[in-house]
Amino acid sequence: MQKKTVQDYIRTIVDFPHEGILFRDVTTLFADPRGFRMAVDQMLHPYAGMRIDKVVGLEARGFILGGAIAHQLSVGFVPVRKKGKLPGTTISEEYSLEYGEAIVEIHDDAIKPGEKILLVDDLLATGGTAEAGIKLIERLGGEIVSCAFVIDLPDLGGRKKLEKMGMDVTSICEFGGL
Ligand code: PRP
Ligand code: MG
Repeated sequence: MQKKTVQDYIRTIVDFPHEGILFRDVTTLFADPRGFRMAVDQMLHPYAGMRIDKVVGLEARGFILGGAIAHQLSVGFVPVRKKGKLPGTTISEEYSLEYGEAIVEIHDDAIKPGEKILLVDDLLATGGTAEAGIKLIERLGGEIVSCAFVIDLPDLGGRKKLEKMGMDVTSICEFGGL
């Protein structure tokens, strides 16, 4: 029997949240003990031996991965949250969604200038969410080592967008189409 890959653990839900969308559901990956460890280990692999001071995770699924990755690296974890959720003083960035705009925030004292940051999320589609996270980190003086995702949807152009911003981007699997 062939060993299962990360991709094998990801469930595809047809027509969610809208007709015509194939939703790549990572809850089945996270729920499996081998799948979850494989995902965390593979996401960390490119950064072995590199200096990382903090992991920043993007709400919501980036918290699950980012927490596990930060724990593995023995570094701190910082959340980028949807507007209105963080209790302290924040800075914010607006970004575009399929319909309309959204705002994400970070605590303004969460990152010190010069800290080396690994940005983590589950999925890279248009790159709008990650771009907003990158801007927040950079406004606080953080230096982004890389942006790490489980899934890249290359047809949606997110990787190209982030690379144009000078970012290093890694993912551990890809799906074609939307
Ligand atoms: C999804 C996914 C990424 C983002 C990717 O999050 O988890 O964070 O979309 O899309 P983009 O590259 O086009 O910005 P979603 O906005 O559904 O929110 P959630 O993680 O809080 O469920
Ligand atoms: Mg998300």
